[in-house]
Amino acid sequence: KMIEWDVNAAEKGGYEHFMLKEMYEQPKTVRDTLSPRIKDGKIEIEELGMTDEEIRAINRIHIVACGSAYHTGVTAKYVFEGMARIPVEVDLASEFRYRNPILDENDLVIIISQSGETADSLAALREAKSQEIKTLGIVNVIGSSIAREADKVMYTWAGPEIAVATTKAYSAQLIAQYLLAIKFAAARGRITDQEVEEYLGDLKKLPDQIELLLSNQTKIQKFANRYIAAKDVFFIGRGIDYAISMEGSLKLKEISYVHSEAYAAGELKHGTISLIEDGTLVVAVATQEDLYKKTVSNMVEVKTRGAFVMAVTNEGNIDIEKAADYVIYIPLTNKYFTNSLAIIPLQLFGYYVSVGKGCDVDKPRNLAKSVTVE
Ligand code: AGP
Repeated sequence: KMIEWDVNAAEKGGYEHFMLKEMYEQPKTVRDTLSPRIKDGKIEIEELGMTDEEIRAINRIHIVACGSAYHTGVTAKYVFEGMARIPVEVDLASEFRYRNPILDENDLVIIISQSGETADSLAALREAKSQEIKTLGIVNVIGSSIAREADKVMYTWAGPEIAVATTKAYSAQLIAQYLLAIKFAAARGRITDQEVEEYLGDLKKLPDQIELLLSNQTKIQKFANRYIAAKDVFFIGRGIDYAISMEGSLKLKEISYVHSEAYAAGELKHGTISLIEDGTLVVAVATQEDLYKKTVSNMVEVKTRGAFVMAVTNEGNIDIEKAADYVIYIPLTNKYFTNSLAIIPLQLFGYYVSVGKGCDVDKPRNLAKSVTVE
């Protein structure tokens, strides 16, 4: 008897696409990136090779990356600045490398890359090194160029990522940066041991919470099917919610070819709102409680102009239903960590729009998994 052996299907472990498989691996990825660095209720990042005194001496952090990795950096800026009060600049690697960046000997340059081979990110790393600035790579592929050339490497333990659209590596990059921020905040006396414990408690809950959000897939698939013919989609949010919007928008456009843009909700009035027509989908991310009311009023503004508003907000914010047509609730976590949860329904949304349109989900046109040439 002949045994049919489809290597491709076997590698996908029963999932229809690598992207779906990788989205489902996120609880594990988060756990694997987190747990080796927590010992006796404390954060230990041995590979960082920095004493508390050296951490205290850091003046400024530059986070440099491309695409989704850059979006994790935008999130991390809010986390580092909020928790540790260290100024952070986030740059696209393709900009950083050519703008003759002003770096200081007490700066730390963090390069984030799944592949570790992205040409612009590698060039940015070399630029920092040529100025003799300390560099740290947050990298997924072991032994890749960025991993080899950075002074220090912190690995994200996501395992091989095949789909062009990153999901699990993105989630792991967020975790690595949360850990660094908490570590830096503690070393600089900005947070107490008690607060460290609370943050770690919230981080440890993330895998189960992600699992729960993934189990909503049918609901999101149904919703996504209504938008396969959409021309334009807008994602809005403030603060970390703006960073989440950027990633949600990229996930949708890169695999489904639906034009989408992320806007800082407060910027709507400065141009974008003129694009809103009857039925335009606006995805509003509102997980930051201190900015919640402001974002809700932007939702009302677009809804009045005919937009269909889908909101992603924290469990319990039921009053949002007055300003939204469709709501996805995420479980409660610390305000700094909401990206790890809010991105899950947005990944699923992008995925199902792509599937619904019959696109090549794992290998979208014109894109490569790692951009090794400029
Ligand atoms: C995201 O889904 C992308 N395909 C892309 O933006 C990616 O994040 C970017 O090219 C950076 O890649 P890297 O992490 O391998 O450096």
